[in-house]
Amino acid sequence: METTSQSGENFRASHTVREEGYDFLQVTRELLGEFCDDFIAIDCGTIGERWEREHYAMELPGKWDSSWVAVDGGIPVGFVIASLKDTGVHVHRIAVAHSARGTGVGTRLLGRVRESAIRQGAKRVTLCVSARNGTALRFYQRLGFSIEDPASELLNLSISVQALGGACAAGPS
Ligand SMILES: CC(C)(COP(=O)(O)OP(=O)(O)OC[C@H]1O[C@@H](n2cnc3c(N)ncnc32)[C@H](O)[C@@H]1OP(=O)(O)O)[C@@H](O)C(=O)NCCC(=O)NCCS
Repeated sequence: METTSQSGENFRASHTVREEGYDFLQVTRELLGEFCDDFIAIDCGTIGERWEREHYAMELPGKWDSSWVAVDGGIPVGFVIASLKDTGVHVHRIAVAHSARGTGVGTRLLGRVRESAIRQGAKRVTLCVSARNGTALRFYQRLGFSIEDPASELLNLSISVQALGGACAAGPS
């Protein structure tokens, strides 16, 4: 009979994708417990509301099927926390460590979110970003996200899973 830790290992192995030298693991409650301090450290410079442990741990529909962490040699270098909202998958938080930025980790994380959205029957990927966050805005616009309310301080962005697929596969221009 399988032990709990063997099942955990098996689950981790079957929910890991290797791309461009990074391992992308689906975030589980267990993995979140292990990596939460790393997520907080990676996210510490993000413009806007600061997330504490309770924000990361919040139970949301489809969250454990939609959230991913990028790992390099066992160390988290980026993560995305997302959940099902209305008819889409909503990205609540995405951040990449300074040392790994501009290497495609953010694009790959959104590629994983897209795969998760398709698996769950969601048609769109949505998120909110501060209008002051120029780096993130440029990143989302390159991927083809459209801005729904360009005049506000907190912008609502959205893209269909089909369009996001093309952009993630194409990579940087
Ligand atoms: C926004 C963020 C998640 C992007 O992550 P990232 O891993 O740097 O994203 P990528 O590497 O996939 O793409 C970033 C840039 O690098 C370029 N790039 C990607 N892969 C590349 C590669 N292999 N070689 C060279 N350049 C590459 C892309 O063209 C892209 O350019 P652009 O954003 O100017 O259009 C990251 O900047 C971040 O963590 N910011 C702080 C947290 C934050 O603001 N989060 C968003 C809150 S809504």
